Amino acid sequence: MAPPQNAMTVKLLDLVPQYEGIRDEIREAIDEVLSTQQFILGKKVEALEAEIARYCGVRWAAGVASGSDAILLSLMGLGIGAGNEVITTPYTFFSTVSSITRLGATPVFADIDPRTYNIDPSYVSRRITDRTRAIIVVHLFGQTAAMDEISGAARRKGIPVIEDACQSIGALYKGKRAGSLGEAGCLSFFPSKNLGGYGDGGMIVTNDAELASSVRMLRVHGGRERYYHDVVGINSRLDSIQAAVLLVKMRHLEEWHAGRRANAAYYDRELSRIPGVTVPAIEPGNTSIYNQYVIRVKERDALKAFLQESGIGCEVYYPVPLHLQKCFAFLGGKEGDMPESEAAARETLAIPVYPELAAAQKEYVVSKIREFMERRA
Ligand SMILES: Cc1ncc(COP(=O)(O)O)c(C=O)c1O
Repeated sequence: MAPPQNAMTVKLLDLVPQYEGIRDEIREAIDEVLSTQQFILGKKVEALEAEIARYCGVRWAAGVASGSDAILLSLMGLGIGAGNEVITTPYTFFSTVSSITRLGATPVFADIDPRTYNIDPSYVSRRITDRTRAIIVVHLFGQTAAMDEISGAARRKGIPVIEDACQSIGALYKGKRAGSLGEAGCLSFFPSKNLGGYGDGGMIVTNDAELASSVRMLRVHGGRERYYHDVVGINSRLDSIQAAVLLVKMRHLEEWHAGRRANAAYYDRELSRIPGVTVPAIEPGNTSIYNQYVIRVKERDALKAFLQESGIGCEVYYPVPLHLQKCFAFLGGKEGDMPESEAAARETLAIPVYPELAAAQKEYVVSKIREFMERRA
């Protein structure tokens, strides 16, 4: 017998409708780059750096090859290396932590606040030692972490705070944008981000002129003058074509954020009425950009399977907290060390929230979640 036909399909993220709305602007911008045949860094990247610095409310920005490299280069710029400890969350994308270990430094994990999924400041304070040289906070899913508390603890000890804002460009914390709250902010232009390029890309934003200058040198093999190397850097530059695409997309970013927020508000209203479903908690003073809309349910795996069978895209961010990853076993992490991160990894599920979702698609998502939860009740 043929499988039942779904009423519709809803992808977790569909970038085609966005492209259809900006196709002409994009093609013109890419064509401009092609006519100059200038592909690496250059005027478009400089223009994007100025635009993003203004948008984030900082003085400097440096385009790099990815969000992962933005984190790595921030740590390199701050001189982090062997023997240093860096406090961070285990409930994040891999490269928040791999950037630390790549430099020979040691990640020290602090568990999350189970409501926001962001690092819990009370654990951060307890993990600070004489060897702590940086704290990396992650503004997960589009909402900033508790920056006042974390920055307060860090400032007392003279420890710089790096913001992994890869999922949170434009998010507001008490009126200030993500990336402007610590010593350095790291942005990703991976295509699925609210500001996504047509390939990899990233940026470091900062108010620290020395750090900006250091990162600019480190991203081009550690030299200020070509073929003269002061330090050992890496090759991590943003392409002109990506910058051209991102400059076009910047014109639409606020409207896209607003679309996601409207979708989130709809889900908040509808899903919070369903017993057993926890909707995202946004702290007072925070404005989320909802890079992901993440719900929490006990029977997450069964719900995920049911939604997928129903034609609804959904994903687990992240199934294995980083203290339990095989490649970090040498750090000695074990099950039970980070109970909140481990519980979140078992119970959370991201559902479609991209701005172009049609009303009928959102209604369908809600109806299927309701159907599942009612059957299980
Ligand atoms: C929290 C977080 N950190 C770091 C990264 C790395 O960014 P990229 O994929 O641009 O290297 C991402 C995105 O994938 C992310 O979501």
